[in-house]
Amino acid sequence: MNAPVERIIPVRLGERSYEVVIKQGILSVVGERLRRLSKSRKVGIVTDTHVARRYLKEFHRSLRKDGLESFPIVLPPGERSKTLETVSTILNALARHKFDRQSLLLALGGGVVGDLAGFAAAIYQRGIPFIQVPTTLVAQVDSSVGGKTGVDHPLGKNLIGAFHQPRAVFIDPDTLRTLPRREWVAGLAEVIKYGIIADETFFAYLEEAMPGLLKQEPEAVMHVIARSCQIKADVVAEDERESDQRRILNYGHTIGHALESLAGYRGMIHGEAVGIGLVEEADLALHMGLCGQDVVNRIRSLVRQSGLSDRLTKVSSPLLWEAMQHDKKVVAGQVFGVWPVRIGKVMIRPLDKQVFADWYRRRHAETRRPKNRRLPRLNRSRPLKGMCG
Ligand SMILES: NC(=O)c1ccc[n+]([C@@H]2O[C@H](COP(=O)([O-])OP(=O)(O)OC[C@H]3O[C@@H](n4cnc5c(N)ncnc54)[C@H](O)[C@@H]3O)[C@@H](O)[C@H]2O)c1
Ligand SMILES: [Zn+2]
Repeated sequence: MNAPVERIIPVRLGERSYEVVIKQGILSVVGERLRRLSKSRKVGIVTDTHVARRYLKEFHRSLRKDGLESFPIVLPPGERSKTLETVSTILNALARHKFDRQSLLLALGGGVVGDLAGFAAAIYQRGIPFIQVPTTLVAQVDSSVGGKTGVDHPLGKNLIGAFHQPRAVFIDPDTLRTLPRREWVAGLAEVIKYGIIADETFFAYLEEAMPGLLKQEPEAVMHVIARSCQIKADVVAEDERESDQRRILNYGHTIGHALESLAGYRGMIHGEAVGIGLVEEADLALHMGLCGQDVVNRIRSLVRQSGLSDRLTKVSSPLLWEAMQHDKKVVAGQVFGVWPVRIGKVMIRPLDKQVFADWYRRRHAETRRPKNRRLPRLNRSRPLKGMCG
């Protein structure tokens, strides 16, 4: 079945409002859309080598066909590029090509490219117009919408940044076809998160549609991107600079970020850590008496169905607690978590250190000796992989 032709999601932020346009094949007509948006003919295309190999030549040609003068800035791929040095590289290229305050900077790629290009656009000549053309599921459902930009610092992820909203987001779901499977599945963690925090109907849809989604059926992919962007746009419109409501987008991320940092940002990609966070934070909410067992069961089951792990990585309780302290959501030493009350509704509440330790001990006991499962004879000379592994 063909996917609907085009979906437009407005992001309502007063004079910074913009549209998220989702359309199969939009990549080849971005040029004409840019012409409508801006008088400037000058466009910098920030991308990485993986994306450039597949899409840059054709994209560059299509912008040229529409009368735009475009300058590719091709970066090494991956989180390791998300540094101030890379931003310098982008700024140097803009200065060299004499970009002015009307010139456009466009990100063609995943969240890394989007965060880098967005930050460069925020600070070059105190801010130039910025366009997002996201090509990973994470970027299409999350990072391209909302205006958070920035880079990592050796002492923390996303430690340096700025809010700078794009002028438009153009999403071509067709680009997801070349995305490595692992990246695709990792993006599903963010999609599931939206169902949990804001929309029970969407969560139920995912429970039904997951097999089709895993096969990347166009209609399912289109719906999932559109609904996710809509939820993110609504949350951001309420609280652009994350003073309160926007924090609900961090559900699954308190434990998720801690696991990612404990793994040294290697071996586990963001969505994989968030997948575990979605399940474990629901279990913590159950432990605190905030939700019922059915909520945890549904989340666990959907996370598993998507192909993500739901098992806490091997890590000790004090280490995990310590890693959770570095989260930006820690205020005056208290970890503010986002907790599901039911599917589609969450609340923000501090997490007590002792409550966490009690929960962890219980989880440890549960996972070390799973119910209804005959354990293999234990080799006592090897550490138990139970809790966490
Ligand atoms: N600004 C925000 O609000 C926000 C939200 C969520 C995540 N993020 C950031 O986003 C980053 C993660 O983003 P990501 O998961 O997109 O990672 P990424 O940008 O590193 O992309 C993942 C990999 O996929 C490749 N790739 C991208 N598009 C492709 C395509 N269509 N076909 C084949 N390969 C492709 C990339 O080259 C890279 O190797 C993190 O740095 C995170 O902090 C930001
Ligand atoms: Zn995330």
